[in-house]
Amino acid sequence: MNKIGIIFGGRSREHEVSVLSAASVMDAADRGRYEIVPIGINRSGEWFHITADMSGLKTLDDERLGFLIPGQGEETPVARRIDLGEFGRLVDFAFPLLHGPYGEDGTIQGLFEMLDMPYAGCNVACSAISMDKIFTKDMLIRAGLPVCRHVATYAFDFAQDRERELDGIGETLTYPVFVKPANMGSSVGVAKARDRDGLARAIEQALRYDSRVLIEEAVVGRELEAAVLGNEEPRVGAIGEIVCGSEFYDYNSKYKEGAAGLSIPADIPEQTAREIGALATRAYKTLGGAGFARIDFFLEENTGRIYLNEMNTIPGFTIYSMFPLLWQAKGVTYPELIERIIRLGYERHLAKNNR
Ligand SMILES: Nc1ncnc2c1ncn2[C@@H]1O[C@H](COP(=O)(O)OP(=O)(O)O)[C@@H](O)[C@H]1O
Ligand SMILES: [Mg+2]
Repeated sequence: MNKIGIIFGGRSREHEVSVLSAASVMDAADRGRYEIVPIGINRSGEWFHITADMSGLKTLDDERLGFLIPGQGEETPVARRIDLGEFGRLVDFAFPLLHGPYGEDGTIQGLFEMLDMPYAGCNVACSAISMDKIFTKDMLIRAGLPVCRHVATYAFDFAQDRERELDGIGETLTYPVFVKPANMGSSVGVAKARDRDGLARAIEQALRYDSRVLIEEAVVGRELEAAVLGNEEPRVGAIGEIVCGSEFYDYNSKYKEGAAGLSIPADIPEQTAREIGALATRAYKTLGGAGFARIDFFLEENTGRIYLNEMNTIPGFTIYSMFPLLWQAKGVTYPELIERIIRLGYERHLAKNNR
């Protein structure tokens, strides 16, 4: 039986969400077909083989979350420290359910490649590019895909000549703007700025997370998301909408219960849904997607224009998350989805090794 390593936790702000995604996958995976090997990574980056009971772990207030993965230098009877060599022996196939840096950015995918281990989801280059909001925009523009107006600034340049950078941004873009660290997620370090002072503050804040910062015009409209599945022939699930009570879809509305709702399928014209689906497929191919990804859009209120925002190569995967629900709306059940993602990972690995 294939030993599927479900990898969760990790060094990101989305540590807990990752554990919930993993627990959902473990609950649903077909135990008759796979042996599931739970692998937890703690906030210091140490790896553990977890044998604790994770069944039914569904919400952030479950107290098991606090001690499931031991702290630095610790171990428990149900969480044994392993090194990467042992990881390679315990697992035949890796299913990373980690979000943000060190999980979604190509680093761990590089480890799987080094181990010649098949894995779920996007490869090194696709993960790294998709994690980087500036690279993503550059790639999408090259492919002629619609993105909102933006500029980049870099820590060194900003420190050297702050006034000139601020002038340049103010001349190129119209306020309000969104300011984001190039490599983050979960809206960490993201801020909206309405004027030059706000812009300066937002850039300073973003520079705490990354040395490269993206500044883009705010789109007034709706947030829509598409779920893509496949390798060379990607398919798109239903289109969903984020219905958000706050100013924007920030960290709190993402992870504090009840703050944002999902509308599935989104209440949009058939034609708009088709356009978004087609753009999602093109973006996926352009960025080199494989396995699965969630692609996020803005639909501008006044113009009806659609803009690509970003591709998330390891989207939230709990049973309440957008990605699985978008497939469910198309008749693909949660267990089937896991099955397909694993199969796609094996197919990609085989194709690569046969080349
Ligand atoms: N150009 C924009 N116009 C309007 N809202 C935006 C824009 N960029 C970001 N936002 C808001 O900020 C949130 C986080 O930005 P996003 O680019 O998705 O970063 P993250 O990778 O952290 O999810 C979005 O979900 C949206 O609510
Ligand atoms: Mg986002």
